[in-house]
Formats: sequence, C-alpha cells, structure tokens
Amino acid sequence: MTVTRAVVRGVGHYLPARVVPNSAFEESLDTSDEWIRARTGIERRHFAAEGEQTSDLGAAAARAALADAGMEGAELDVVLVATSTPDLTFPSTATKIQADIGMTNGFAFDLQAVCAGFVYALANANAMILSGQARRVMVIGAETFSRILDFEDRGTCVLFGDGAGAVVLEAADGAGDAEDRGILSTDLHSDGRFRDLLYVDGGVSSTGTVGHLRMEGREVFRHAVEKLAATAHCALDKAGLSAGDVDWIVPHQANLRIIRATASRMQVPMERVIVTVQDHGNTSAASIPLALSVGKAAGDIKTGDVIVTEAIGGGLAWGAVVLRW
Ligand code: UT7
Repeated sequence: MTVTRAVVRGVGHYLPARVVPNSAFEESLDTSDEWIRARTGIERRHFAAEGEQTSDLGAAAARAALADAGMEGAELDVVLVATSTPDLTFPSTATKIQADIGMTNGFAFDLQAVCAGFVYALANANAMILSGQARRVMVIGAETFSRILDFEDRGTCVLFGDGAGAVVLEAADGAGDAEDRGILSTDLHSDGRFRDLLYVDGGVSSTGTVGHLRMEGREVFRHAVEKLAATAHCALDKAGLSAGDVDWIVPHQANLRIIRATASRMQVPMERVIVTVQDHGNTSAASIPLALSVGKAAGDIKTGDVIVTEAIGGGLAWGAVVLRW
C-alpha cells in the first residue's frame, strides 16, 4: 500500500554573530562560569545584534535550508514559523519571512508552543502534507529570547540564547512501514494547569507590555525528566520502533542534565544524542532544528537514520516526533 510521507529535503540554520560566554554574566550577577557549566552544560550562547529581528534569523535559516534542498522559495506551499518572540504582535513573523525568501503563493503563519514549538510545527506540517493540503512546507524555529530576559534574574538569564533553524519537508510516496523515509509518528501534549511554572509576565491583552521570562526551574526540570522520555517512548511505539532502532535523539537543548536523564530513561547511550546546548544555550523553538542542522553538517546525521526529537516548555507543552532522515 502506498502512503504519503513528509520527507526532509533540506536543513539549515543561522546564529547571530555575537557570542556571549558564561563569564560575561559574572560582572553583574552572583553567578559563575563553573555553576552554569555544572548545572546546565551551557558554555556560551549567541545574542542577536540591536535591530536584528526574529524574522532576520529565520529567513537566513530558511535560505540555508532551501540551498540544501536545491529549491527556491517560490516552490514552497507553506512557511510555518514556531516562535514565542515574534517581530511584532502582528502580522506573523512567517509572512515577513515569506516575503524575504521570494514566496508569493501559498500561505504563511506562526505557531506558538514555546520550547515545544518546533515539534508542534513538525506535527502540523506533517498533517498538512498527509491531508494533501500542501506538498512542500518550510518549517522554521526562530527566537530572540534575549529580548525577554530579565538580566537581573540569575535563575533564568544565563540559560537562553538566540538563533534559528529550518527544515524543508516534501510529500513523497512511502510503503507505509517504518523503513520509509520521512515523519513516521508524532505525539503532542499540553497541560495548562502548569502554565505558572514557565511564562512571560507581560502581553498584549494583560499588561500591554512585552514582559520578562519567569520560571520555576526546579519544577520544570522535574516535569521534563518525567514527560520527555514518556512522549519519546509513545512516539516510537506509534512508529512501530523501539529504542534499539534509534540512530539519534535530537532533544530540545535546555539543560545537559535533562538531556542525559532522558537518554538514560530511554536506554539510548549519549553517543547517539546530538548535543549543542554548550554552544547555543536554550534557544526555545529553534533548538531542535539548530541541532539537526549542526548534526548533519558534522556528518553525524545521515540519510536513512532514525531520529527522535523531543521537547518540553511553557504551557506546559511537550511532545516528540520520530522520523527517518
Ligand atoms: O526550555 C524550557 C524548559 N526549561 C528547562 O528545561 C529548564 C529546567 N530547569 C533547569 O534547567 C534547572 O532547574 C536550572 C538550571 C534552571 C536550575 O538548576 P537546579 O539544579 O535546578 O538549581 P536550583 O534551581 O535548585 O537552584 C540551586 C541553587 C539555588 O541556591 P540555594 O537556594 O540552594 O541557595 C539558586 O538560587 O543555585 C542557585 N542559582 C544560581 N547560582 C549561581 C540559581 N541560578 C544560579 C546561577 N548562578 N545562575
């Protein structure tokens, strides 16, 4: 039986030029490079330049993904941007990127699921492709979290960074089994009872301000370790695969201790986990496509590899996608 699959044709990323080492925070805060490395695995992060917007990062990543796919922007049906740090309240950051990459047909929109945004976007792009609504979808994760950080709060400001990653998905025929290339399964969850654990204390219809990121780090950590392995297992189950079939876990890059704990619960060795948190910090919706792009560029991720992506963030919202590259 022939089925439609959403296959990755290209991947790319962009990081702002400015690199901020952990030591930069030591001057103004009671923190240390040693604490940040030990508790999070983060060594440095990139911050966007003044005037550099989320759409600039996203468009650069999209152009890199188009080049990797050998496609033009005009050949896309959809641009889907996962972001919690849009350029403006409206119109969407996706429509700005649509114009920037020369796409005038089809449609573009933003999706907001914070750090789980890219997993949510992949699942939605997959649904559009499987339903025949679109054949070629550009899925972008792009963030400028530096704009919503409280630089007096050592519990959060050292954790996040800016960046963007993108993949081009295209409809292709598959046999309907786990040997197919493309997205094999998706698993999404949210539980709004936990929305006070990680949020921004401002917004259009509440304070009329942009606000700052607030987090109960220890509580989010506890939920992450428990929920990420569970959703990854569930997605593998739906795909008819098990942990032994996994070539790469490409996790949301929030904290190396969470990444290690999740891999351990999944019984996948760390040699099969793509880790970029040391160089990027937590880039929210951008972290997974950034890690995919870095992993491919390094020669680690190859055609045919089974990949599990998993992420959790504000909402709480979490989920996993299993795909064969
Ligand atoms: O992407 C969305 C999902 N987000 C996450 O997954 C983040 C989840 N949470 C975490 O990654 C960790 O909880 C943190 C990295 C945020 C914190 O690590 P922790 O091991 O859970 O530390 P903690 O919050 O239990 O704090 C331990 C101590 C506290 O001091 P006391 O109360 O023991 O005296 C904090 O005040 O570390 C202190 N602390 C710091 N010390 C130096 C907190 N931040 C810092 C800092 N530098 N930057």
